[in-house]
Amino acid sequence: MSRSLRVAAVGDLHCTAASEGLFQPLFAKIVESADVVVLCGDLTDYGTGAEARVLAKELAGLKLPKLAVLGNHDFESSASSEVAQVLSEAAGVTVLDGTAVEVLGVGFAGAKGFAGGFGERALQSWGEEPVKAFVRAAIEEALKLESALARLRTPGRVALLHYAPIHGTVDGEPVEIYPFLGSSRLEEPLNRYRPSAVFHGHAHRGQPEGATSAGVPVYNVALPLLRRRFPDRPPFRVVDVPLADPPASESRPPRSNDAAAADPRAVGA
Ligand SMILES: [Fe+2]
Ligand SMILES: [Fe+2]
Repeated sequence: MSRSLRVAAVGDLHCTAASEGLFQPLFAKIVESADVVVLCGDLTDYGTGAEARVLAKELAGLKLPKLAVLGNHDFESSASSEVAQVLSEAAGVTVLDGTAVEVLGVGFAGAKGFAGGFGERALQSWGEEPVKAFVRAAIEEALKLESALARLRTPGRVALLHYAPIHGTVDGEPVEIYPFLGSSRLEEPLNRYRPSAVFHGHAHRGQPEGATSAGVPVYNVALPLLRRRFPDRPPFRVVDVPLADPPASESRPPRSNDAAAADPRAVGA
């Protein structure tokens, strides 16, 4: 029996009303390569029910367990609930929002995340009320991620986000927009609960791989980025996530080395 689960990940599909048929080749490749697929937000371009219905039709043929978080584009038309409902009911997508689910022996925790910047330069809750509200939104998303991760009991655990939790997978974007691409507040729960892999999107021009300060591997799976960086492969990543801790007889690297241990198993498929 296989002791790992192949998790395919892609984000930023930006499906429009004109996208009918465009995702079929991508989804056909994913079915060949993985056991489960996660979609990291910006599933639609303007967040309309009509766009979600086009994507649901495309996804209906993808006969794998499907998990997703929404992205900022999925909120543009103030119809994010409809987008999530259409994808759930018409395509069987489990949309995570501060929630967790176990699929085929691996735990998945998901939240959209939010912006605010990274490290010591991150926006702080100080001054005008709109600034405090912005920071509050970032804190709430970090708390959602934390509570979702806290529910998982499986040896293999995966975190899904739309916004970046580290600046490493944002590098390459115009430096002026770094603070709008993610938040270090999302990194803290990842370091505490140490999932096997973290997937996010949103930074279309960032880096495909990085790690948190505790060595948790982070993959930016924004479709435009993967298409540009791996032009000879279909634009998604596959990471093997362990189903059980290895027997004591097998040497296992220290937890802080998990990024290096897991990374070579990631393929552009
Ligand atoms: Fe996007
Ligand atoms: Fe986005």
